[in-house]
Amino acid sequence: MRLQGKISLITGAASGIGEAAARTFAREGAAAIIADRDEANAARVAGEIRAAGGQADYVIVNVGEAADIERMVQSTADKFGRIDILLNNAVYTAVGRVADIPLEEWQRTLDVSLTAYFYATKLVLPIMVRQGGGVILNTSSTAGFLADYKLAPYAVVKAGVLALTRNTAIEYARKGIRCNAICPGSTATPGFLRTLSRPKGFREIYEDKIPMGRLAKPEEIANLMLFLASDEASFVTGAYYLADGGFTAHSGNPYVPGQGPDWE
Ligand SMILES: NC(=O)c1ccc[n+]([C@@H]2O[C@H](COP(=O)([O-])OP(=O)(O)OC[C@H]3O[C@@H](n4cnc5c(N)ncnc54)[C@H](O)[C@@H]3O)[C@@H](O)[C@H]2O)c1
Repeated sequence: MRLQGKISLITGAASGIGEAAARTFAREGAAAIIADRDEANAARVAGEIRAAGGQADYVIVNVGEAADIERMVQSTADKFGRIDILLNNAVYTAVGRVADIPLEEWQRTLDVSLTAYFYATKLVLPIMVRQGGGVILNTSSTAGFLADYKLAPYAVVKAGVLALTRNTAIEYARKGIRCNAICPGSTATPGFLRTLSRPKGFREIYEDKIPMGRLAKPEEIANLMLFLASDEASFVTGAYYLADGGFTAHSGNPYVPGQGPDWE
């Protein structure tokens, strides 16, 4: 067991990558505290982890609200006495061309997908300092480096998460706290599959752009998170790790006719 006895707090853990991380961390001996606004699925994930013999609990929060983040951190610390792993992972994004995004939508994206990461980190750091160490993981994205149409708010928060990760890492490295970011490529989560569901055949077009020819499974992202959360990553901090099936390795240029990949 790679996380035996650890207490992990995971936002957005009622679905997708966060859910896979909660299951993976629990399988490796950690208590998984599922923080999400979706009560039915938070209870489902916690129940399924417990049924499989793991330790899990859930807390219902809107991470866009500072008071909810305060309650999330406080209740976890009160109940479990410590927080060893914080995974900031919940997301919301406005969608639209830069000139068309309403200011409130821009602000909401920042609140849920960047300020929440900062605020949870700020509140957990003193607890980790007191207990002599901990791990903070932030879910970024390939979008932290690359532009996509109508996704400026998403790109901005994901780049911001990388900066927050580096700053947190260097400031707390001598306190035994490590902070790293994970940059998934396209992953088959309920959230992303909804995006790919229209028009018909869009998923196939998307997958064809990925050198591996498929989306990631959430568990494949969770496995990277597990490594970073575990003591095996004891010298890793301030870093980001891609898990994108080769997507960002490719320039994106079209190939010269006759010089395409083998499967053409
Ligand atoms: N799926 C992908 O292709 C992909 C790629 C790169 C990065 N990511 C990142 O991975 C993370 C997880 O994405 P996913 O695809 O698993 O998403 P998902 O939509 O499947 O799950 C997101 C979870 O976050 C919760 N959530 C959303 N807003 C919340 C709020 N305000 N307060 C509390 N909970 C809230 C939802 O209820 C849901 O349970 C996100 O940070 C996302 O940007 C995903």
